[in-house]
Formats: sequence, C-alpha cells, structure tokens
Amino acid sequence: MNDILVDSPFRQDVLKGLSSNPKYLLPKYFYDAKGDQLFQQIMGCPEYYLTRAEEEILRTQSRQIIQSCAGTNPMFDVIELGAGDASKTLYLLQEALRLRCSRQYYPIDISTGMVDYLDRMLPPILKGMQISGRAGEYFPMLEHIQAESPTAKLVVFLGATIGNMLPEEALGFLEQLRGLLQEGDYLLVGFDLKKNPQVILDAYNDKEGLTRDFNLNLLHRMNRELGADFKPNQFEHFPVYDPITGSCKSYLISLLAQQVTFDDTVIAFERDEPIYMEISQKYNEAEIQELAAKAGYEPVDAFFDSCHQFVDVLWRV
Ligand code: AVJ
Repeated sequence: MNDILVDSPFRQDVLKGLSSNPKYLLPKYFYDAKGDQLFQQIMGCPEYYLTRAEEEILRTQSRQIIQSCAGTNPMFDVIELGAGDASKTLYLLQEALRLRCSRQYYPIDISTGMVDYLDRMLPPILKGMQISGRAGEYFPMLEHIQAESPTAKLVVFLGATIGNMLPEEALGFLEQLRGLLQEGDYLLVGFDLKKNPQVILDAYNDKEGLTRDFNLNLLHRMNRELGADFKPNQFEHFPVYDPITGSCKSYLISLLAQQVTFDDTVIAFERDEPIYMEISQKYNEAEIQELAAKAGYEPVDAFFDSCHQFVDVLWRV
C-alpha cells in the first residue's frame, strides 16, 4: 500500500518528526486542499486579526510601498513567497501596474491547488501582468526564477509566514534569501507584532474551533496520504503564548496512551504527550530592526495598520 509514497518528503519528514523527542510536525504540511480551506476560514474569523490588519496596510499604503521600490529600480519583477490566494498582494500588483513598475508576478506556494488557482484567476484581473505561478519550496523556485530573469526584484513575504520560524531560524532564512538576490533588490516582509497576550492567544484558539480543526487536519492528512491510523478525537489542540519571547506555539496533546501505525512503523504516544505543531513568532520593532541588520538588509520603510497590530517592513539588499 502507498508504494509510490514510501519515500515521499512528506513521509520522511513525518516519520523523522514523530520519532524525535519531543515529537513535532512541520506546518508547511497543513496546506492540503482541506487545510487551504480551513486556513481561508481562519483568516476570516473574528479572532484572527492578522489578515485584516495586513489587508488594511496593503489597501491603504501600496502606493507608498511601490513608489519606494521604484525610486531605485524603475522596473522590477514581483516574487511572492507563500502567495496563498494573493488577495492582499493584489493591491500591490494593481499599484505596480498603475505606476508602470512591473509586468511580471511570480507567486510561489507549497500548495499546488493555490498556484493553479492563481494562474487561472489573476490574468483577467491584472491586465498587462504576466502571471507565472510556481508550486514548491521557496528557495529552489527562487533560484529558477533568478536564472530566468535578470530584472530587479521585489520579493514579498507576507502574512507573518516568517513567524513559522524561530527568530534564529528566521535570521538564517533571511541571510540565505539575501544570497539569492541582487544588490538593490527589495524585500517586503510581514511581521505580527507583540501585543496584549490574550489577543494573540485568542487568535490561535478561536471559538469556532477552526484552528483546532486546522491542526487536527494534519492527522487526517497523514491517514489519507500515508496510510496512518490516527484517531484525531484522541488528540487535543493546545496553544500557548509566551509574552517575553513572543513565541506562540501550538501543540496537539495525546489524551491517552496510544499507538499509531504507518504501514510497518509504529509510533507510541504517552498519555498527555505533546506533538509540537507550529510556532507563530511575534516581534517588537526593535527586534525587527535587529533582524534586518544581522541579516544584512538596509531598512527602507515600515508600514503599520492603524491599530499597530502588524507591520510590513521594506528592506533593501
Ligand atoms: C500562515 C503562518 C502566518 O502563524 O498565524 C494561523 C498560520 N496557524 N492559525 C500564523 C496559522 C494557525 C499562520 N501563518
């Protein structure tokens, strides 16, 4: 059974994570068709303020963002890491078209479904913009694009996706990204800001249980795609937020001693044992400045929503 998937990266990562102590899974695997749908619902739920805050930033400040980039590069390609449904990026792209700064958009996403959707939906909305979606991992895709097009780049990394890394991992990621860019290229990164801890915790513990279902969906996905036999109702969603470190972490807690099998492999869970599912790291302004400096970028501007919940920072390579 599942011969073709025996050596898939998904299976390898899952078995590695569940054989580790503490056990963990990787959040990039949340985004199958069901996970995409649940994440769309999370973005619309009352507690999840992040999307609305960043939507406001891009709806009201895209012109300033594009003008800042255009100062040094009259024409640039837009590359998006983790484009999702690109609904917020649309404001930037429309402004880039209006100001005649860009004719090329490369959305990169781990979700094949999302990339197919963008390749179909965007061309009629963005007349004059070439849409070239790429499904896969960020860096390999970015390398392909750089080899294809010598034009200056604006790389956008929105939605606080950078929060899925610990600060030291984010630093390594940003350094590696800089190595793939050219001098004068721009990077626009969305960070969720430290704020009242209850507001943050509620965003990852919505009343409707969407975030719980989003986490449990990864257990269902392993059952569907890897032939595992998780009983998702024997796991409980447990989010925590540490207001000092700014780390919001989600766990699934095993409610009893139980075993899960993946074909020939058996994974044992103790009662109350956690699986570490995801980090959603929060930053203050000083921490973001420090990250830019350490990673070797020049901060150009910072764009906040009216409630100062979220920031999109513009950095120059
Ligand atoms: C897509 C990583 C930004 O961490 O806020 C939302 C994912 N997880 N609710 C986040 C998520 C649970 C989201 N990011």
